[in-house]
Amino acid sequence: MAYPFMSNKQSQQDPQKGNKSEQFSSAGFILAAIGSSVGLGNMWKFPYVTGQNGGGAFFLLFIACLLIVGLPVLLGELAVGRGGRGDAVSAFTTLSRKRGWGVLGFIAVLAAFLIMTYYSTIAGWTLHYAVESVSGILFQSGDYAEHFKLFTGGMMPIVWQIVVFALTGFIIARGISGGIEKFNKIVIPGLLIILLVMMVRTLSLDGAAEGISYFLKPDFSQLTFHSALMALGLAFFSLSLGMGAMLTYGAYVDKHQSLPLATVAVGAGDLIYALIAGLIIFPTIFTFGIEPDSGPGLVFVALPAAFASMPYGALFGGLFFLLLAIAAVTSCLALAEVPVAYIIRRYNLGRGKATFYVIAAMYIIGLPCTLAAGGVLEGATLGGRNFFQWIDFLTSNVMLPLGGLFVTLLVGYAWKQSGEETGLSPLWRSIWLFTMRIIAPVLIILIFLSSIGLV
Ligand code: TRP
Repeated sequence: MAYPFMSNKQSQQDPQKGNKSEQFSSAGFILAAIGSSVGLGNMWKFPYVTGQNGGGAFFLLFIACLLIVGLPVLLGELAVGRGGRGDAVSAFTTLSRKRGWGVLGFIAVLAAFLIMTYYSTIAGWTLHYAVESVSGILFQSGDYAEHFKLFTGGMMPIVWQIVVFALTGFIIARGISGGIEKFNKIVIPGLLIILLVMMVRTLSLDGAAEGISYFLKPDFSQLTFHSALMALGLAFFSLSLGMGAMLTYGAYVDKHQSLPLATVAVGAGDLIYALIAGLIIFPTIFTFGIEPDSGPGLVFVALPAAFASMPYGALFGGLFFLLLAIAAVTSCLALAEVPVAYIIRRYNLGRGKATFYVIAAMYIIGLPCTLAAGGVLEGATLGGRNFFQWIDFLTSNVMLPLGGLFVTLLVGYAWKQSGEETGLSPLWRSIWLFTMRIIAPVLIILIFLSSIGLV
């Protein structure tokens, strides 16, 4: 078996014996996959996109997308990874036995690369907020919207983005089990505990009932075709699909790992974190009179107000933003690992060097992203979107659905043994294959066409 990140000599060894460090353990794999899926998507993006799309009905749509399209595609990606034993490009070519399919895999690598450029911006914001919360600076002004504006308009976001890149590069360079796995094992359970504590507090705020009803009570008149597109894009984003990330992680597990189990664990984990995030954010914004559709700054404006009103708020705030930052970093690890795995194999480079090149290239595009998110480039728009918004739109709403579509086509049509690789029972296997051949592609294509105005 050829692992993309090993030298030829190493790859002839039994991977179970000689290269334990380049394999996940079973629990480590599931936690790392949850770590990849749980991140800013759940706690930063999910609340504000839900807020912009009318609340409860959108949440239901999100769950439907998660179950009907997301989980089957997730299982497909994991199977492609383990069956193809490589990076996104090589797995697509190996399994389809056609070189042309590699191009589709490459689009996924590109998507991961591009997402990292703006994801690191927001991850940097959370680090800054963690520090300011502990030091108390955050709570001095009392006007959190203004504070957020001043911060994103200044120079600090650039510094923090560099910190995020450095941290990601450092851990990625250490490899799979020594770096990625260890980190996830600590962070993911820790984040859950903090979130639960916070939820107890936010559910006792004055605006809790109003917030919960906004978040969980569906009003279908708010839904449009556009929100369906957003829901699918968000489900894919939140599960880390369509960009070869789960595929790349799937290449680092052995045959004994149950992929359906991992799929259900990741789906449940992702949904639980999103649900808790909603139960924290919406009661808070209704209590403090913040507009639910106020966009990417929502979490950074709403939550400081909640912390300020809590006993030990500075401590909780610091812990929350720190854990959020770390959850973001666990996602950064998966994002960066996709191009790193590809570069290692394609150019036969060592892990350290490949990491360095990838991180450097990401930073070149990441810097203008940061400047467009509240900084000097914010007003520089083209077709109504600035650089940050373009990258977000192109990746979440165009490349991710397309990447997901390619996975469904690969496992549904081109790769004949996909069903066996999943380890599903015969009945589930036919349901899954039917979904991958017909239901998922049709839904993805419909929603995608509507987004570019053709349906
Ligand atoms: N799922 C991540 C989140 O919710 C974001 C993300 C999207 C991601 N695609 C990814 C993370 C690929 C890692 C790999 O925040």
